[in-house]
Amino acid sequence: MKASLGICYYPEHWPPAKWSEDAHRMVDLGLQLVRIGEFAWSRIEPSPGELQWGWMDQAIETLGGAGLKVVLGTPTATPPRWMLDRYPDMLALDIEGRPRKFGSRRHYCFSHAGYREDSATIAGLMAQRYGSSEYVHSWQIDNEYGCHDTVVSYSAAARDAFQDWLAQHYSTIESLNAAWGNVFWSMDYSDFGQIELPNLTVTEPNPAHVMDFRRFCSDQVIRYNLAQVRAIRRHSDASLIHNYMGRVTDFDHFRLGDDLDIASWDSYPLGFLADRSDANESRQQHFYQQGEPDFQAFHHDLYRAAGKGRWWVMEQQPGPVNWAPFNPAPLPNMVRLWTWEAIAHQAEAVCYFRWRQAPFAQEQMHAGLLRPDSIEMPVCDEVRQVVKEIEDVGSVTAAEPDIALVFDYESCWAWQCQPQGQSFDYFSLQLAFYRGLRRLGLSIDIVPASVASLDRYRLVLIPGLMYWNDSLRQAIEKFAGVLLVGPRSGSKTSQFAIPDKLPPDLHDFNCRVSYVESLRPGVRRGLQQGGYMHSWLECIEGDAEVLEKTSDGQAALIADSNLHYLAGWPDDEAMTRILHNMCSSAGIGTTPMPPGLRQRATGSHLFRFNYNGHAVEFDGTSIPAAGVTWKSV
Ligand code: GAL
Repeated sequence: MKASLGICYYPEHWPPAKWSEDAHRMVDLGLQLVRIGEFAWSRIEPSPGELQWGWMDQAIETLGGAGLKVVLGTPTATPPRWMLDRYPDMLALDIEGRPRKFGSRRHYCFSHAGYREDSATIAGLMAQRYGSSEYVHSWQIDNEYGCHDTVVSYSAAARDAFQDWLAQHYSTIESLNAAWGNVFWSMDYSDFGQIELPNLTVTEPNPAHVMDFRRFCSDQVIRYNLAQVRAIRRHSDASLIHNYMGRVTDFDHFRLGDDLDIASWDSYPLGFLADRSDANESRQQHFYQQGEPDFQAFHHDLYRAAGKGRWWVMEQQPGPVNWAPFNPAPLPNMVRLWTWEAIAHQAEAVCYFRWRQAPFAQEQMHAGLLRPDSIEMPVCDEVRQVVKEIEDVGSVTAAEPDIALVFDYESCWAWQCQPQGQSFDYFSLQLAFYRGLRRLGLSIDIVPASVASLDRYRLVLIPGLMYWNDSLRQAIEKFAGVLLVGPRSGSKTSQFAIPDKLPPDLHDFNCRVSYVESLRPGVRRGLQQGGYMHSWLECIEGDAEVLEKTSDGQAALIADSNLHYLAGWPDDEAMTRILHNMCSSAGIGTTPMPPGLRQRATGSHLFRFNYNGHAVEFDGTSIPAAGVTWKSV
C-alpha cells in the first residue's frame, strides 16, 4: 500500500476568492486529501433550521474539482450558541458540579438526548446533501471525543441516564447492592432512582460505583457516535472515521472503532512531550524539538488495532503548536520523520494540521504549512520530499509482529478509581513495557482484552489488566508462546472485588499475591540481577520457579511453564533485561538500539528513525539528526 498525504482546511475562515488558489497549491504540493467542515456548524446553520449549504457546496466543488478527495467532518464538536437556548441543560458539568461553558468547543454532555438527536440530524442532513458527491471520500464524525476531559460529565442528564443504565444492567436493586458490596458503610439502596453520580461525596465513593459510572460514560460516547453513524449510513457508503487523541482513555476506543471503518488520531509530538508523554526533565530537554520517540509509535499501534488494521494520522503537527506549556519548532526534517514513522506503522494517510495559520482566535499562534500571509513555511519542502519518497519506496506491506501487548480501557478506569499509590497509572505502565520493547528494536501489535486468539504471537505481555474476561482466559489457555503477566493483572473481578482465589486469579497457576505495596517517588527496591522495582511491588507466594528476586530475597518474577508473573514495576534496566529474556525464551531476536534510535519492521522494509539532534552510527550506517533510513527486507 502507498500512503496518501492530506491537509486540514477551514474554507469558512477565508474569503471564497482564496479557495481555488489554495486548492491548486495543495495539489501542487502533492496533497491528495483535504478535511473540512468539522467546526463549521454556525456557518452551516446560522440560526435554528436556516441551512446555508451554498458556501459548502462551493468549497467542496472547488477542492474536489482541483483533484482533492474531501474528508467531510460533522460539526458536532462545536454546537452553535443558539443550541444553548434550545437546551440550556446540554452542558457537561465537571466533578465539582460546575458547567463547562460556551466559548470554546466540546461544550456538550454526551448524555443529553436532545443534543444527541440534533447531532444525528445535522450529520444526516450533511450526508443527504453530500453523500453522493463524487468528491466526498470519507466522513469524520465529530472531533476528538474526550479531548479537554469531556467524556465524564456530572449533569442531571447523565444522572438520569446512569440510573437507567444501572437498572438495565442489574435488573434488581438487590443484585446491584450485592455486586457493589453496599453493605459496607450502610450504602444499600432500595431503588435505582436513589443512586447519584459518584462526585461530591464526603470521602471516597465506592470504587465499584465509580467503575460502573466510567463504563456508563464510555457507553454514552459510543451511543452518541452510533447515532451519527446511522444517520450518515442512510445516505452514504463512504468510509466513516473518527480522529482520536493522544492519551485520551476515557472511552473504549476498540468498541467505538467497531462502528467505524477507519481509525485516525491527531499526532502532536512536541505538544505531547511536555504535557502527557511521561518523559522526565532531562528527556524533555533532549527531545524538545523531536518529541518522545515511543509516544507516537504507541498510539500508531493502538489505533491500528482500534481500526482493525485501517488507520490514518488525521492531524500531524507541522510546526510550533499553541497549547503546550512550551511550544518550540520541530527540528528540520522532523515532520518528515514523523510522517515516515506513521507510514512504517501502516498508516494509510497522514494529514497535516493545518493549511494556513489563522491570524485570529484561539489558535493564532499555531503554525500551518502556510503563514497567515500565505507564504510557505520551510516544512513544505519536507512534505514535497515525502511525496517523492512515497513514490520511490513503493508499496509498504503490513508487518506481522511476533509480540502482542494487551491494552484495556477498563483497566485504565479501574486504576484511576483505585490507584492505591499516586504513581500507579495504567497508561504509564503500558508505555513502560512498550518502550522497553522498542529499546530492543522490536515491532509490536497492541491488541484489546477482547482478543479471541493469541496464537499468531510468540510473546504476549499483559501488564496491569483489571480482570480476565472469558475470551481472554480461553485465548491464554490455548496459547503456546511465552506469556508475561503482571503487575496487578487479574487483581479484581469485573465487579471490582478481590477474586476468591486472590490475584492473579489464573487457572492452574500456582501463584497468589498476598499483599501489595505502593512506593513513593524515589523509593527503589533493588533487584539481585540489577535495576530495581519502583512505584509498585507485590508479595507473591506459591511454588513456581523464581527467576528474579529483590535484594532482600523476595520473589519478583516467577515462571510456571510458559506463564510468567512479574510482581512489580521494573526500572528501565530491569525492564530491558526481563523483556530480553522473555524474547530469548520465545525465540525472538532483539536489536538493542542506541539511545534515541528506533526501528520498525514491515513486511517489505526495515525503517530506522533517529530522534536525536545529532547523527548516530548504527549497523554500518550514519543516520543524520532527525534522519530516516529504510531498506527492503
Ligand atoms: C487538535 C484539534 C484541532 C486543533 C489542534 C491544534 O486537538 O483537533 O482542531 O485544535 O488540536 O493543535
